[in-house]
Amino acid sequence: MNNQEYEKAVKQLNLYSYHYYVLDDPITTDEIYDKLYHEVLAYESTHKEHILDSSPTQRVGDSISDGFTKAPHLSRMWSLEDVFNSEDLEKWLTKTYKLDKNISFYCEPKYDGASLNLIYEDGILTQGITRGDGEVGELITQNVKTIRSVPLTIEYKEKIEIRGEVVIFKDEFEKINQDRAKNGEAVFANPRNAAAGSLRQLDSRITASRNLVFLPYGVGENSLEHKLLSQKMAYIYSLGFKKPPLSATCSDAKEIQVIYDEMCANRDGYEMMLDGMVVKVDEISAQIDMGYTVKNPRFSVAYKFPAIEKITTVKDITLQVGRTGVVTPVALVEPTNIDGVVVERATLHNFDEIDRKDIRLNDKVIILRSGDVIPKIIKVLTHERNGSEAKYIRPTFCPVCKSELLDEGVLLKCQNLRCEARVINSIIYFASKSCLNIDGLGNKIVEALFSSGLVKSVVDLFSLTLDNLLVLEGFKEKKSQNLLSSIESAKGCEFWRFVNSLGIEHIGEVASKTLSSNFGSGFVDATKDEIVLCDGIGEEMAESVLEFVRVNKDTIALLQEILKPIEPQQRVEASENPFKDKTVVLTGSMSESRDAIKEILENLGAKVSGSVSKKTDFVIYGEDAGSKYDKAVSLGVECLSEQQMRSKIEQA
Ligand code: IVH
Repeated sequence: MNNQEYEKAVKQLNLYSYHYYVLDDPITTDEIYDKLYHEVLAYESTHKEHILDSSPTQRVGDSISDGFTKAPHLSRMWSLEDVFNSEDLEKWLTKTYKLDKNISFYCEPKYDGASLNLIYEDGILTQGITRGDGEVGELITQNVKTIRSVPLTIEYKEKIEIRGEVVIFKDEFEKINQDRAKNGEAVFANPRNAAAGSLRQLDSRITASRNLVFLPYGVGENSLEHKLLSQKMAYIYSLGFKKPPLSATCSDAKEIQVIYDEMCANRDGYEMMLDGMVVKVDEISAQIDMGYTVKNPRFSVAYKFPAIEKITTVKDITLQVGRTGVVTPVALVEPTNIDGVVVERATLHNFDEIDRKDIRLNDKVIILRSGDVIPKIIKVLTHERNGSEAKYIRPTFCPVCKSELLDEGVLLKCQNLRCEARVINSIIYFASKSCLNIDGLGNKIVEALFSSGLVKSVVDLFSLTLDNLLVLEGFKEKKSQNLLSSIESAKGCEFWRFVNSLGIEHIGEVASKTLSSNFGSGFVDATKDEIVLCDGIGEEMAESVLEFVRVNKDTIALLQEILKPIEPQQRVEASENPFKDKTVVLTGSMSESRDAIKEILENLGAKVSGSVSKKTDFVIYGEDAGSKYDKAVSLGVECLSEQQMRSKIEQA
């Protein structure tokens, strides 16, 4: 790679990353990105003087600081006045129209995260500063550089402050908390705390691992000449920043209300948490004339959404036993209406969480509910205690089957495979969307089937008859027929669904697909070495498969007999050829899609694996082959170009 190629590669990488992180519309695969990234890295290691500020390698979180220094904002970071209903908004509008009659408004979401000020000089991100007290914040530039939606360089060369909110998407937040709960770490109360905490990590590797997202909402010091804020923002987005999921210019209260209603109604559907809509005067000259009160700009207001945090009381703590036997505590709270939904339960994650937060029965607590985020207790109001609160004592016996629980510290487990709760939940899981997708087998019905004695295990589902069902409460002819036919239609399912429905620990949908496509029904005979050869499957997962098969071989065979899942790509035995029974790895781009080449090789009896090891027989490389090729060379694995592969096939 020469310097010109290097610069081109950096541009290309930034384009890939812009599409992925800012536009949410990837234009390449991880593999191609990684390969180019490594070439760039290799070039930089020998040409330190050429490293570009815009290079994605400059984002790596590898710095550990022992504290943050303070840094002043170039212009003050203000906060917003809040209004909570349409009357208060009208009052704000009347007040604002008094200052200037000829105005319109720009509306955008109020993101619930941590505010951040980015300073660009000569097109380069030079400082990232937290809000602090509005005048002075903390310098966290290294951490900010790990956020992929923050451009390291922009095309605009004047000095500019770009302000926005750093957030964690809701699904990412759930993942982080699940991991933390599993590892016995304190869970974050809400995505806002998670974002703020992640941003202020001394170890920037932690920040980098949290998938933070930056959403710009304005500028501080700047010499942009746009007359309207909406134009300014459009320009900021065009510099490579992420756009809001919804924004609009409005000319009056009615139009503002329409956008507000739409945003509020869709609130749960957005990837990030919103706590309101911000209304800003669109005309910059009017903004300047209106100026500021001591705290807030007069030209802007936060029109808040109904609260999703409420105070309630913990009435009891019940225990849920999942299909794997893990016992999860759930708080029963005084029913509370949160944004239209009556909340009666809140997750407590695990028993450590109860101790850590010191949650007692009868405590007053703050609970949070937002869309698909499960309601949770985020704070105990200890100052409200009056002596009536009682400590919760960890259970030692399964609440359902009364067998002794295994106390693993963070997790408590019921080890009884026949425990009713475990069986019922396994059946529910078996029928769920990502398994056999059997319509009509929800919690209530499974419980009824189980307690009537008709279904003691998933196998029994398949011998149910119309007469069986008709005796159950609420089961008329039609409903019973429907259930029977949806159970029947699970037969002949895709093979991976069958694998997933077995509920093997650590094996989810993705791993089930991998196991199916690599082994089909042969997965029960696969060795650990063969299993770990599969892409994305590690030692622990492989061991879990082996253990499951060892214990449940008969049940697996029986279920397979009943379900007759379709073997993935059933093949006839291939005739002798150089690739038969060989392990082959593909890398680089080829004349046809990777899947097509894979198919050709698999039809010849080859096993196509994702990663190179000593056991690999051939690496077949296309253009721009990357680290897999290098690894093959270093392990002495035979490498063939696509052309060489094709000639070998023709000669056979
Ligand atoms: S404008 C001119 N717009 O809410 C005032 N703020 O109380 C500057 N926030 O500290 C803020 N989304 O961190 C503005 N679309 C948005 C926002 C937003 C979230 C945060 C921001 C600020 C606080 C205001």
